[in-house]
Amino acid sequence: MKNGTLACEILERGYEGEIREGEPLSRHVSLGTGGQAALFAVARSVKDLRLLVGCLKERRVPWIILGSGNNVVFANGGFNGCVLRLGAGFARILDEGEGTLNAGAAAPLPGLVNRSAEDGLSGLECLAGIPGTVGGAVFMNAGTSSGEIAAAILEVQIFDGENTQWVPSAEMGFSYRSSGVAQGQIILGARLKLSPSSRGEVRSRIRAQNDHRAGTQPSGYPSAGCWFRNPEGESAGRLIDNAGMKGEKCGAAQVSEVHANFLINLGGATTADFLALAEKVRQAVYQRYGIDLEEEVRIVNG
Ligand code: EPU
Repeated sequence: MKNGTLACEILERGYEGEIREGEPLSRHVSLGTGGQAALFAVARSVKDLRLLVGCLKERRVPWIILGSGNNVVFANGGFNGCVLRLGAGFARILDEGEGTLNAGAAAPLPGLVNRSAEDGLSGLECLAGIPGTVGGAVFMNAGTSSGEIAAAILEVQIFDGENTQWVPSAEMGFSYRSSGVAQGQIILGARLKLSPSSRGEVRSRIRAQNDHRAGTQPSGYPSAGCWFRNPEGESAGRLIDNAGMKGEKCGAAQVSEVHANFLINLGGATTADFLALAEKVRQAVYQRYGIDLEEEVRIVNG
C-alpha cells in the first residue's frame, strides 16, 4: 500500500480491521460480476467503524455496507468509494433464553435458521434456503410467501456513524423487502423472538421449505435471487414467464428456464449483460401487461 493513500491514513489513525485498495467486487457479490472497489474494508469492531466512517465522511468518500452481496448489483461495474463489511466479531448468535436469539449482522442467515432449529425455536423456517447475512436479511426484510424476517424481530441494533442504539421493530418501518434503514446507518444485529417448539418439528418445516425451493427455483448458476419485486397481488416470475421471456439472453446472462424472475450467470456474464437483460424483461412485461416492474435487487451507482 502506497504511503499517503487514504487506506494508509486510516491505518495510521488506529484502524485494526482489514483494508485494501482495488478490490475485485466479483469476490463479494453472488452474481459474480463487477469491477473494483476503490477501497474495501472489513471492520473488526464498532471502534473501527466509527473511525472508518468518520474518516470517509471527512474526505467525502462514498461508502456502502455489504453483507454477502446476494442482492446487490454495482451498476457501473465497480464502486468509486469504500465497500465496507463487518468482520467475524459481528457474527455471534446468542440464545438469551425465553425464545430470544440475539444475532450479529455478519452471521450467515442459514446459520441463524439452523441455530433456531437446534434450539427448538420456531419462527424462522420461512427463511430456509435464503442466502446472505442477518444484516442483509434485516435490511431487505428478506422473506418468502410464507413469511418475512420482520415478523420475528423484536429490535434492531443500529450504528449511525457515532452511536449505537436498539430500535424496536415497530419503529423500524418494515414493509415488503424493505426495513426503513437509511443511508449512513449500519445494522449491527437483531434480537428475534421465536416460539418454543421441538427440533424435529422445526427441522421438518425447514425441509419442506427447502424441497419447495429446490423444485421451483434454479440452482447451480450464480444469481441475485429474484431480480424484480412482486407487484401488488402478482408474481413477477409469472408475468415474465407469460411474456415469453424464459431462456432470453444478453451475453451470458439468461432468464432462468426454471423461474423467470431469476437472472442467472451462465459463465462470464458482465454487469452490463445483466442490466441489458433486465431492461429487455421490463419492456416485455410492460408491453404485455402495462406493468412497470421494479428491481428487488439493490442497484448501486458510484
Ligand atoms: N410462476 C410462473 N413462472 C415462473 C415463476 C413462477 O408461472 O417462471 C408462478 C408459479 O407457478 C406460482 C407463482 O408464479 O404460481 C408464484 O411463484 P413462486 O411461488 O415461485 O413465488 P414468487 O412470487 O415468484 C416469491 C419471492 C421469492 C420466494 C418465493 C417462495 C419475491 C420477488 N419473490 O417468489 O423470493 O423465494 O416467493 O416463497 O418476493 C427473493 O426474494 O429473492 C426470492 C426469490
